[in-house]
Amino acid sequence: MLELQSVRKSWQSDTGAVWPLLADISLQVAAGETVALLGASGSGKSTLLKIIAGIEILEGGQVCIGGASMRDVPPERRGVGLIFQDFALFPHLDVWDNVAFGLVERGVKRQEARAQAQRMLASFSLDVPAGQKVWKLSGGEQQRVALARALIVQPRVLLLDEPFSALDADLRAHLRAEFVRRIAESRMAALWVTHDEDEARAVGQRGYRLVQGGLNPLW
Ligand SMILES: Nc1ncnc2c1ncn2[C@@H]1O[C@H](COP(=O)(O)OP(=O)(O)OP(=O)(O)O)[C@@H](O)[C@H]1O
Ligand SMILES: [Mg+2]
Repeated sequence: MLELQSVRKSWQSDTGAVWPLLADISLQVAAGETVALLGASGSGKSTLLKIIAGIEILEGGQVCIGGASMRDVPPERRGVGLIFQDFALFPHLDVWDNVAFGLVERGVKRQEARAQAQRMLASFSLDVPAGQKVWKLSGGEQQRVALARALIVQPRVLLLDEPFSALDADLRAHLRAEFVRRIAESRMAALWVTHDEDEARAVGQRGYRLVQGGLNPLW
């Protein structure tokens, strides 16, 4: 479902020296499968997710989703959902409009988008009013809203960049189970970045460590 073929990326320093970050990354993630990605800080995990999402340009190789090359496909048409560590919800919108956002962006009328968002939120056991401004929510509640917002457009691929790093251990374990269940149910291909090897093993059917621009299989 998600396929990376020899993806390469390097940065150029201020002095003009070229510094390879991702050397030759190839990976397949099937629908309904979660692959965990570990790696030291600065190893390029977030950059890889941004390349898949289309918000960072790749230098070589290609990203395919559903068998099609994403070379000329803009981010909003890739069918990729992204969840960042720092939530990245819209602080000026309430819970409802945050979740409905992706639908409105795709041309669904606001009233219909809100109705769908309401149904999505109802399945999330979120004990907050839909009209609540999101900055008033706890960290765990915000991440649930972020997941609801990512899922409402039914992405084919879900990318999670350390989604629980700001949460305490109990809440992490609880949310982890909920996220794993929803990913499996919705048959998405998921790539889950985490610093925590226990978390990686709990969520990923396979796990890799990004080292010196390459993927080392862990299990
Ligand atoms: N636009 C950019 N231009 C130049 N260098 C960049 C750019 N984006 C990222 N980098 C560099 O690439 C390296 C990898 O960054 P990246 O954010 O992918 O790491 P990471 O593995 O996600 O790290 P962390 O675990 O800390 O989140 C870093 O050294 C970063 O400074
Ligand atoms: Mg990162």
